[in-house]
Amino acid sequence: MNSLHQYVMKLVLFLLLSIPCLSHGKTQITSIFSFGNSYADTGNLFILGTQNLTLGPVVSGYPPYGMNFFHHPTGRFSDGRLLLDFIAQAFDLPFLPPYLGHNGSFQHGMDFAVAGATGLDYSFFVKKNATFPTLLNTTLNVQLGWFLDLKPSLCSSFDSCRKFFRKSLFIVGEFGINDFSIAILGGKTLAEVKSYIPSLVKVITKAIERLICEGALTIVVPENVPYGCIPVILSLYQSTDESDYDPHTRCLRKFNELSLYQNKLLNKAVNQLKLNFPHVRLINAEYYRPITEFLKNPKHFGFIDTPLRVCCGVGGTYNFNISQGCGMPGVNACQNPSTYLNWDGAHLTEAAARYIAHGWLRGPYADPPILTAIHN
Ligand SMILES: *[C@@H]1O[C@H](CO)[C@@H](O)[C@H](O)[C@H]1NC(C)=O
Ligand SMILES: *[C@@H]1O[C@H](CO)[C@@H](O)[C@H](O)[C@H]1NC(C)=O
Ligand SMILES: *[C@@H]1O[C@H](CO)[C@@H](O)[C@H](O)[C@H]1NC(C)=O
Ligand SMILES: *[C@@H]1O[C@H](CO)[C@@H](O)[C@H](O)[C@H]1NC(C)=O
Ligand SMILES: *[C@@H]1O[C@H](CO)[C@@H](O)[C@H](O)[C@H]1NC(C)=O
Repeated sequence: MNSLHQYVMKLVLFLLLSIPCLSHGKTQITSIFSFGNSYADTGNLFILGTQNLTLGPVVSGYPPYGMNFFHHPTGRFSDGRLLLDFIAQAFDLPFLPPYLGHNGSFQHGMDFAVAGATGLDYSFFVKKNATFPTLLNTTLNVQLGWFLDLKPSLCSSFDSCRKFFRKSLFIVGEFGINDFSIAILGGKTLAEVKSYIPSLVKVITKAIERLICEGALTIVVPENVPYGCIPVILSLYQSTDESDYDPHTRCLRKFNELSLYQNKLLNKAVNQLKLNFPHVRLINAEYYRPITEFLKNPKHFGFIDTPLRVCCGVGGTYNFNISQGCGMPGVNACQNPSTYLNWDGAHLTEAAARYIAHGWLRGPYADPPILTAIHN
Protein backbone atom coordinates (compact mmCIF):
# COMPACT_ATOMS: atom_id res chain seq x y z
CA MET A 1 0.00 0.00 0.00
CA ASN A 2 2.77 2.32 1.06
CA SER A 3 4.89 1.54 -1.96
CA LEU A 4 1.91 1.92 -4.25
CA HIS A 5 1.28 5.32 -2.71
CA GLN A 6 4.90 6.30 -3.30
CA TYR A 7 4.68 5.07 -6.85
CA VAL A 8 1.56 7.16 -7.49
CA MET A 9 3.24 10.22 -5.99
CA LYS A 10 6.28 9.71 -8.21
CA LEU A 11 4.03 9.37 -11.22
CA VAL A 12 2.15 12.56 -10.35
CA LEU A 13 5.41 14.39 -9.84
CA PHE A 14 6.75 13.06 -13.10
CA LEU A 15 3.67 14.18 -14.97
CA LEU A 16 3.73 17.63 -13.38
CA LEU A 17 7.37 18.08 -14.27
CA SER A 18 6.93 16.90 -17.81
CA ILE A 19 3.90 19.03 -18.70
CA PRO A 20 5.88 22.25 -19.17
CA CYS A 21 8.26 20.40 -21.52
CA LEU A 22 5.36 19.07 -23.56
CA SER A 23 3.64 22.41 -23.92
CA HIS A 24 6.68 24.60 -24.53
CA GLY A 25 8.97 22.26 -26.45
CA LYS A 26 10.61 23.48 -29.62
CA THR A 27 9.44 20.39 -31.47
CA GLN A 28 5.76 21.39 -31.51
CA ILE A 29 6.14 21.64 -35.27
CA THR A 30 7.16 18.33 -36.81
CA SER A 31 6.33 18.99 -40.46
CA ILE A 32 5.95 21.82 -42.95
CA PHE A 33 3.76 21.98 -46.05
CA SER A 34 4.47 24.73 -48.53
CA PHE A 35 2.42 26.08 -51.44
CA GLY A 36 3.72 28.79 -53.73
CA ASN A 37 5.91 29.78 -56.66
CA SER A 38 9.64 30.20 -57.31
CA TYR A 39 10.09 31.99 -53.98
CA ALA A 40 9.35 28.65 -52.32
CA ASP A 41 10.17 26.04 -55.02
CA THR A 42 12.82 23.57 -53.79
CA GLY A 43 12.99 21.87 -57.20
CA ASN A 44 9.53 21.16 -58.61
CA LEU A 45 9.82 23.22 -61.82
CA PHE A 46 13.27 21.81 -62.48
CA ILE A 47 11.82 18.27 -62.23
CA LEU A 48 8.90 19.23 -64.50
CA GLY A 49 11.44 20.51 -67.02
CA THR A 50 13.29 17.19 -67.08
CA GLN A 51 9.96 15.37 -67.64
CA ASN A 52 8.47 17.74 -70.20
CA LEU A 53 10.91 18.69 -72.92
CA THR A 54 8.56 21.35 -74.37
CA LEU A 55 9.17 23.29 -71.20
CA GLY A 56 12.85 23.37 -72.09
CA PRO A 57 15.79 23.55 -69.69
CA VAL A 58 14.98 25.27 -66.40
CA VAL A 59 17.79 27.70 -65.53
CA SER A 60 17.71 26.98 -61.81
CA GLY A 61 19.17 23.54 -62.59
CA TYR A 62 22.42 25.13 -63.83
CA PRO A 63 25.34 26.84 -62.11
CA PRO A 64 25.82 29.28 -60.53
CA TYR A 65 22.40 28.59 -58.92
CA GLY A 66 23.05 27.09 -55.49
CA MET A 67 26.69 28.27 -55.39
CA ASN A 68 26.57 29.82 -51.95
CA PHE A 69 25.10 27.07 -49.78
CA PHE A 70 24.34 23.75 -51.48
CA HIS A 71 27.37 24.23 -53.78
CA HIS A 72 25.42 22.76 -56.70
CA PRO A 73 22.10 23.66 -58.37
CA THR A 74 19.08 22.14 -56.61
CA GLY A 75 16.34 23.78 -58.67
CA ARG A 76 15.99 26.58 -56.12
CA PHE A 77 15.95 30.03 -57.71
CA SER A 78 18.64 31.35 -55.40
CA ASP A 79 22.34 31.27 -54.65
CA GLY A 80 21.47 29.27 -51.53
CA ARG A 81 18.59 28.77 -49.15
CA LEU A 82 15.05 30.08 -49.60
CA LEU A 83 12.98 31.62 -46.82
CA LEU A 84 11.29 28.25 -46.43
CA ASP A 85 14.65 26.57 -45.80
CA PHE A 86 15.47 28.98 -42.98
CA ILE A 87 12.07 28.26 -41.42
CA ALA A 88 12.66 24.49 -41.65
CA GLN A 89 16.06 24.97 -39.99
CA ALA A 90 14.52 27.02 -37.19
CA PHE A 91 12.41 23.96 -36.30
CA ASP A 92 15.35 21.55 -36.70
CA LEU A 93 13.54 19.98 -39.65
CA PRO A 94 15.17 18.71 -42.85
CA PHE A 95 14.88 20.77 -46.03
CA LEU A 96 11.55 20.04 -47.71
CA PRO A 97 11.71 17.78 -50.75
CA PRO A 98 9.95 18.90 -53.92
CA TYR A 99 6.69 16.97 -54.25
CA LEU A 100 7.22 16.08 -57.93
CA GLY A 101 10.55 14.40 -57.19
CA HIS A 102 9.49 12.39 -54.21
CA ASN A 103 7.76 9.04 -53.93
CA GLY A 104 4.96 8.99 -51.44
CA SER A 105 5.27 9.76 -47.80
CA PHE A 106 7.64 12.15 -46.12
CA GLN A 107 6.77 12.64 -42.47
CA HIS A 108 8.43 16.04 -42.19
CA GLY A 109 6.27 17.62 -44.88
CA MET A 110 6.53 18.46 -48.53
CA ASP A 111 7.02 21.39 -50.87
CA PHE A 112 4.28 21.78 -53.49
CA ALA A 113 5.46 25.20 -54.73
CA VAL A 114 6.28 25.42 -58.44
CA ALA A 115 8.15 28.30 -60.02
CA GLY A 116 5.82 30.20 -62.32
CA ALA A 117 2.70 29.12 -60.45
CA THR A 118 -0.25 31.47 -60.25
CA GLY A 119 -2.76 31.71 -57.44
CA LEU A 120 -5.65 32.05 -59.89
CA ASP A 121 -6.78 28.96 -61.80
CA TYR A 122 -5.58 28.27 -65.31
CA SER A 123 -9.15 28.57 -66.54
CA PHE A 124 -9.39 32.12 -65.14
CA PHE A 125 -6.65 33.33 -67.48
CA VAL A 126 -8.13 31.43 -70.43
CA LYS A 127 -11.52 33.00 -69.79
CA LYS A 128 -9.95 36.47 -69.65
CA ASN A 129 -7.93 35.77 -72.80
CA ALA A 130 -4.86 36.59 -70.74
CA THR A 131 -2.68 33.57 -71.36
CA PHE A 132 1.03 33.62 -72.00
CA PRO A 133 3.25 30.62 -72.90
CA THR A 134 4.76 30.47 -69.40
CA LEU A 135 1.32 29.80 -67.88
CA LEU A 136 1.44 26.30 -66.40
CA ASN A 137 -1.32 24.33 -64.76
CA THR A 138 0.46 24.21 -61.41
CA THR A 139 -1.77 26.75 -59.67
CA LEU A 140 -2.60 26.95 -55.98
CA ASN A 141 -5.66 24.72 -56.42
CA VAL A 142 -3.62 22.11 -58.31
CA GLN A 143 -1.03 22.19 -55.50
CA LEU A 144 -3.83 21.77 -52.97
CA GLY A 145 -4.96 18.71 -54.95
CA TRP A 146 -1.43 17.26 -54.67
CA PHE A 147 -1.56 17.77 -50.92
CA LEU A 148 -4.89 15.90 -50.72
CA ASP A 149 -3.45 13.11 -52.91
CA LEU A 150 -0.49 12.79 -50.56
CA LYS A 151 -2.59 12.77 -47.39
CA PRO A 152 -3.34 9.01 -47.23
CA SER A 153 0.41 8.31 -47.05
CA LEU A 154 0.73 10.56 -43.97
CA CYS A 155 -2.28 9.58 -41.88
CA SER A 156 -5.15 7.14 -42.22
CA SER A 157 -8.20 8.38 -40.34
CA PHE A 158 -9.96 11.68 -39.74
CA ASP A 159 -8.59 11.76 -36.19
CA SER A 160 -5.04 10.72 -37.02
CA CYS A 161 -4.90 13.32 -39.81
CA ARG A 162 -6.10 16.10 -37.53
CA LYS A 163 -3.51 15.01 -34.97
CA PHE A 164 -0.78 15.00 -37.60
CA PHE A 165 -1.67 18.41 -39.08
CA ARG A 166 -1.95 20.06 -35.67
CA LYS A 167 1.82 19.73 -35.52
CA SER A 168 2.36 21.00 -39.06
CA LEU A 169 3.23 24.46 -40.25
CA PHE A 170 1.48 25.46 -43.48
CA ILE A 171 2.82 28.23 -45.69
CA VAL A 172 0.40 29.48 -48.35
CA GLY A 173 2.27 31.81 -50.68
CA GLU A 174 3.58 34.05 -51.81
CA PHE A 175 1.12 34.14 -54.76
CA GLY A 176 0.57 37.11 -57.05
CA ILE A 177 3.81 37.85 -58.91
CA ASN A 178 3.01 35.35 -61.65
CA ASP A 179 -0.67 36.28 -61.77
CA PHE A 180 0.44 39.85 -62.55
CA SER A 181 3.12 38.79 -65.02
CA ILE A 182 0.98 36.33 -66.99
CA ALA A 183 -1.78 38.89 -67.35
CA ILE A 184 0.57 41.77 -68.29
CA LEU A 185 2.55 39.67 -70.76
CA GLY A 186 -0.77 38.32 -72.04
CA GLY A 187 -1.62 41.87 -73.11
CA LYS A 188 -3.74 43.18 -70.22
CA THR A 189 -3.61 46.73 -68.90
CA LEU A 190 -2.66 47.40 -65.28
CA ALA A 191 -6.29 48.41 -64.59
CA GLU A 192 -7.43 44.99 -65.85
CA VAL A 193 -4.78 43.24 -63.77
CA LYS A 194 -5.95 45.18 -60.75
CA SER A 195 -9.51 44.00 -61.35
CA TYR A 196 -8.32 40.35 -61.02
CA ILE A 197 -6.88 40.90 -57.54
CA PRO A 198 -10.09 40.34 -55.54
CA SER A 199 -10.45 36.94 -57.26
CA LEU A 200 -6.82 36.14 -56.46
CA VAL A 201 -7.33 36.94 -52.79
CA LYS A 202 -10.48 34.83 -52.80
CA VAL A 203 -8.60 31.78 -54.17
CA ILE A 204 -5.96 32.16 -51.44
CA THR A 205 -8.63 32.56 -48.74
CA LYS A 206 -10.54 29.48 -49.95
CA ALA A 207 -7.33 27.40 -49.91
CA ILE A 208 -6.64 28.48 -46.33
CA GLU A 209 -10.20 27.55 -45.29
CA ARG A 210 -9.76 24.14 -46.90
CA LEU A 211 -6.53 23.56 -44.95
CA ILE A 212 -8.29 24.57 -41.73
CA CYS A 213 -10.99 21.97 -42.50
CA GLU A 214 -8.20 19.41 -42.85
CA GLY A 215 -6.99 20.26 -39.35
CA ALA A 216 -4.32 22.88 -40.02
CA LEU A 217 -3.65 24.90 -36.89
CA THR A 218 -0.68 27.06 -37.87
CA ILE A 219 -0.79 28.85 -41.21
CA VAL A 220 1.64 31.46 -42.51
CA VAL A 221 0.24 33.71 -45.25
CA PRO A 222 2.98 35.69 -47.00
CA GLU A 223 1.88 38.84 -48.81
CA ASN A 224 3.13 39.93 -52.24
CA VAL A 225 6.54 41.48 -52.85
CA PRO A 226 6.81 45.03 -54.24
CA TYR A 227 6.30 44.08 -57.88
CA GLY A 228 7.72 47.36 -59.19
CA CYS A 229 11.05 46.67 -57.43
CA ILE A 230 11.71 43.46 -59.39
CA PRO A 231 14.62 44.08 -61.79
CA VAL A 232 12.85 42.16 -64.61
CA ILE A 233 9.97 44.66 -64.41
CA LEU A 234 12.32 47.63 -63.91
CA SER A 235 14.24 46.80 -67.07
CA LEU A 236 11.21 45.85 -69.22
CA TYR A 237 9.37 49.07 -68.29
CA GLN A 238 12.29 51.45 -67.87
CA SER A 239 11.01 55.02 -68.05
CA THR A 240 12.47 58.44 -68.79
CA ASP A 241 9.73 60.08 -66.74
CA GLU A 242 11.21 60.62 -63.31
CA SER A 243 7.75 60.73 -61.72
CA ASP A 244 7.26 57.03 -62.59
CA TYR A 245 9.80 56.19 -59.88
CA ASP A 246 9.49 56.24 -56.13
CA PRO A 247 12.25 58.68 -55.09
CA HIS A 248 13.22 56.62 -52.01
CA THR A 249 13.38 53.12 -53.49
CA ARG A 250 13.77 53.83 -57.25
CA CYS A 251 11.00 51.28 -57.90
CA LEU A 252 8.22 51.70 -60.47
CA ARG A 253 5.28 53.13 -58.60
CA LYS A 254 2.38 51.93 -60.75
CA PHE A 255 3.57 48.32 -60.51
CA ASN A 256 4.03 48.61 -56.75
CA GLU A 257 0.47 49.87 -56.49
CA LEU A 258 -0.76 46.45 -57.64
CA SER A 259 1.11 44.79 -54.75
CA LEU A 260 -0.11 47.36 -52.24
CA TYR A 261 -3.70 46.75 -53.33
CA GLN A 262 -3.31 42.96 -53.12
CA ASN A 263 -1.67 43.19 -49.71
CA LYS A 264 -4.43 45.42 -48.38
CA LEU A 265 -7.13 42.96 -49.49
CA LEU A 266 -5.13 39.91 -48.36
CA ASN A 267 -4.45 41.33 -44.90
CA LYS A 268 -8.10 42.15 -44.51
CA ALA A 269 -9.09 38.62 -45.55
CA VAL A 270 -6.58 37.00 -43.19
CA ASN A 271 -7.71 39.22 -40.32
CA GLN A 272 -11.28 38.12 -41.01
CA LEU A 273 -10.16 34.45 -40.94
CA LYS A 274 -8.53 35.15 -37.56
CA LEU A 275 -11.95 36.23 -36.26
CA ASN A 276 -13.80 33.32 -37.89
CA PHE A 277 -11.32 30.71 -36.64
CA PRO A 278 -10.00 31.96 -33.30
CA HIS A 279 -8.40 28.57 -32.49
CA VAL A 280 -6.19 28.73 -35.62
CA ARG A 281 -2.84 30.52 -35.54
CA LEU A 282 -2.95 32.63 -38.70
CA ILE A 283 0.18 34.60 -39.41
CA ASN A 284 0.37 37.59 -41.79
CA ALA A 285 3.91 37.55 -43.16
CA GLU A 286 5.40 40.62 -44.83
CA TYR A 287 7.54 40.98 -47.93
CA TYR A 288 6.74 44.54 -48.94
CA ARG A 289 8.11 46.34 -45.89
CA PRO A 290 11.41 44.43 -45.52
CA ILE A 291 12.25 44.74 -49.23
CA THR A 292 11.53 48.47 -49.34
CA GLU A 293 13.53 48.91 -46.13
CA PHE A 294 16.52 47.17 -47.78
CA LEU A 295 16.19 49.52 -50.75
CA LYS A 296 15.89 52.68 -48.66
CA ASN A 297 18.85 51.91 -46.47
CA PRO A 298 20.93 49.14 -48.11
CA LYS A 299 24.13 49.83 -46.14
CA HIS A 300 22.36 49.18 -42.85
CA PHE A 301 21.66 45.63 -44.01
CA GLY A 302 25.09 45.05 -45.54
CA PHE A 303 23.93 45.44 -49.15
CA ILE A 304 25.68 47.38 -51.93
CA ASP A 305 24.52 50.96 -52.38
CA THR A 306 22.92 50.20 -55.77
CA PRO A 307 20.65 47.47 -54.35
CA LEU A 308 18.49 47.08 -57.48
CA ARG A 309 21.47 45.72 -59.42
CA VAL A 310 21.33 41.95 -59.66
CA CYS A 311 24.15 39.63 -58.65
CA CYS A 312 23.95 37.09 -61.46
CA GLY A 313 23.36 38.78 -64.79
CA VAL A 314 24.81 40.88 -67.64
CA GLY A 315 24.50 44.48 -68.76
CA GLY A 316 22.09 47.37 -68.55
CA THR A 317 21.12 49.60 -65.66
CA TYR A 318 20.29 46.65 -63.41
CA ASN A 319 22.96 44.18 -64.59
CA PHE A 320 20.04 42.28 -66.08
CA ASN A 321 19.18 41.29 -69.65
CA ILE A 322 16.29 38.92 -70.11
CA SER A 323 17.92 37.23 -73.10
CA GLN A 324 21.13 36.62 -71.13
CA GLY A 325 19.85 35.45 -67.79
CA CYS A 326 21.50 33.73 -64.86
CA GLY A 327 22.06 30.02 -65.50
CA MET A 328 22.80 30.59 -69.20
CA PRO A 329 26.30 30.07 -70.61
CA GLY A 330 28.64 33.00 -70.06
CA VAL A 331 26.53 34.64 -67.35
CA ASN A 332 28.43 34.93 -64.11
CA ALA A 333 27.56 35.72 -60.53
CA CYS A 334 28.98 38.65 -58.58
CA GLN A 335 31.94 38.12 -56.27
CA ASN A 336 30.00 38.39 -53.04
CA PRO A 337 26.30 37.42 -53.36
CA SER A 338 25.67 38.10 -49.67
CA THR A 339 26.02 41.84 -50.35
CA TYR A 340 23.22 41.73 -52.95
CA LEU A 341 19.48 41.86 -52.45
CA ASN A 342 18.57 40.36 -55.80
CA TRP A 343 20.10 37.20 -57.15
CA ASP A 344 18.98 36.78 -60.77
CA GLY A 345 16.63 39.63 -61.64
CA ALA A 346 13.51 38.03 -60.22
CA HIS A 347 14.53 36.36 -56.96
CA LEU A 348 16.07 37.25 -53.63
CA THR A 349 19.55 36.24 -52.60
CA GLU A 350 20.03 33.88 -49.67
CA ALA A 351 21.20 36.89 -47.64
CA ALA A 352 17.90 38.72 -48.19
CA ALA A 353 15.85 35.56 -47.57
CA ARG A 354 17.72 34.94 -44.31
CA TYR A 355 16.95 38.43 -43.09
CA ILE A 356 13.24 38.24 -43.93
CA ALA A 357 12.95 34.72 -42.49
CA HIS A 358 14.38 36.02 -39.22
CA GLY A 359 11.73 38.75 -39.23
CA TRP A 360 8.96 36.20 -39.87
CA LEU A 361 10.15 33.91 -37.11
CA ARG A 362 10.97 36.48 -34.44
CA GLY A 363 9.40 39.71 -35.67
CA PRO A 364 9.00 42.42 -36.82
CA TYR A 365 7.92 41.13 -40.26
CA ALA A 366 5.07 38.84 -39.18
CA ASP A 367 1.93 39.28 -37.14
CA PRO A 368 2.28 37.38 -34.91
CA PRO A 369 5.90 36.22 -35.35
CA ILE A 370 5.90 32.47 -36.09
CA LEU A 371 7.82 31.49 -32.94
CA THR A 372 5.51 33.59 -30.78
CA ALA A 373 2.44 31.99 -32.37
CA ILE A 374 3.80 28.47 -31.81
CA HIS A 375 4.43 29.05 -28.11
CA ASN A 376 0.96 30.43 -27.43
C1 LIG B 1 4.54 20.43 -71.41
O1 LIG B 1 4.80 21.83 -71.41
C2 LIG B 1 4.07 22.53 -72.41
C3 LIG B 1 4.59 23.98 -72.45
O2 LIG B 1 4.67 24.56 -71.20
C4 LIG B 1 2.57 22.42 -72.08
O3 LIG B 1 1.82 23.13 -73.02
C5 LIG B 1 2.19 20.95 -72.07
O4 LIG B 1 0.84 20.82 -71.67
C6 LIG B 1 3.08 20.14 -71.14
N1 LIG B 1 2.81 18.73 -71.32
C7 LIG B 1 2.52 17.93 -70.30
C8 LIG B 1 2.33 16.51 -70.63
O5 LIG B 1 2.46 18.33 -69.15
C1 LIG C 1 9.74 6.77 -57.76
O1 LIG C 1 9.31 5.46 -58.00
C2 LIG C 1 9.27 5.08 -59.35
C3 LIG C 1 8.65 3.70 -59.48
O2 LIG C 1 9.11 2.84 -58.49
C4 LIG C 1 10.71 5.17 -59.91
O3 LIG C 1 10.69 4.85 -61.29
C5 LIG C 1 11.23 6.58 -59.70
O4 LIG C 1 12.58 6.65 -60.13
C6 LIG C 1 11.15 7.00 -58.26
N1 LIG C 1 11.52 8.41 -58.14
C7 LIG C 1 12.27 8.89 -57.14
C8 LIG C 1 12.55 10.36 -57.20
O5 LIG C 1 12.71 8.21 -56.26
C1 LIG D 1 -5.34 21.52 -64.37
O1 LIG D 1 -5.10 20.45 -63.49
C2 LIG D 1 -6.24 20.06 -62.75
C3 LIG D 1 -5.82 19.02 -61.74
O2 LIG D 1 -4.97 18.07 -62.27
C4 LIG D 1 -7.30 19.57 -63.70
O3 LIG D 1 -8.46 19.22 -62.99
C5 LIG D 1 -7.64 20.69 -64.70
O4 LIG D 1 -8.54 20.21 -65.67
C6 LIG D 1 -6.38 21.18 -65.39
N1 LIG D 1 -6.70 22.31 -66.21
C7 LIG D 1 -6.24 22.45 -67.45
C8 LIG D 1 -6.67 23.68 -68.18
O5 LIG D 1 -5.50 21.64 -67.98
C1 LIG E 1 -7.11 37.79 -77.09
O1 LIG E 1 -5.87 38.45 -76.93
C2 LIG E 1 -5.12 38.56 -78.11
C3 LIG E 1 -3.74 39.11 -77.78
O2 LIG E 1 -3.79 40.04 -76.73
C4 LIG E 1 -5.90 39.43 -79.11
O3 LIG E 1 -5.18 39.54 -80.31
C5 LIG E 1 -7.26 38.81 -79.37
O4 LIG E 1 -8.04 39.64 -80.20
C6 LIG E 1 -8.00 38.55 -78.05
N1 LIG E 1 -9.21 37.80 -78.31
C7 LIG E 1 -10.39 38.14 -77.77
C8 LIG E 1 -11.54 37.23 -78.09
O5 LIG E 1 -10.56 39.12 -77.06
C1 LIG F 1 20.69 41.82 -74.29
O1 LIG F 1 21.36 40.69 -74.81
C2 LIG F 1 21.13 40.50 -76.17
C3 LIG F 1 21.75 39.17 -76.58
O2 LIG F 1 23.07 39.08 -76.18
C4 LIG F 1 21.68 41.68 -76.96
O3 LIG F 1 21.45 41.51 -78.35
C5 LIG F 1 21.00 42.94 -76.48
O4 LIG F 1 21.56 44.08 -77.10
C6 LIG F 1 21.11 43.10 -74.96
N1 LIG F 1 20.28 44.19 -74.53
C7 LIG F 1 20.74 45.20 -73.78
C8 LIG F 1 19.76 46.25 -73.41
O5 LIG F 1 21.88 45.25 -73.40
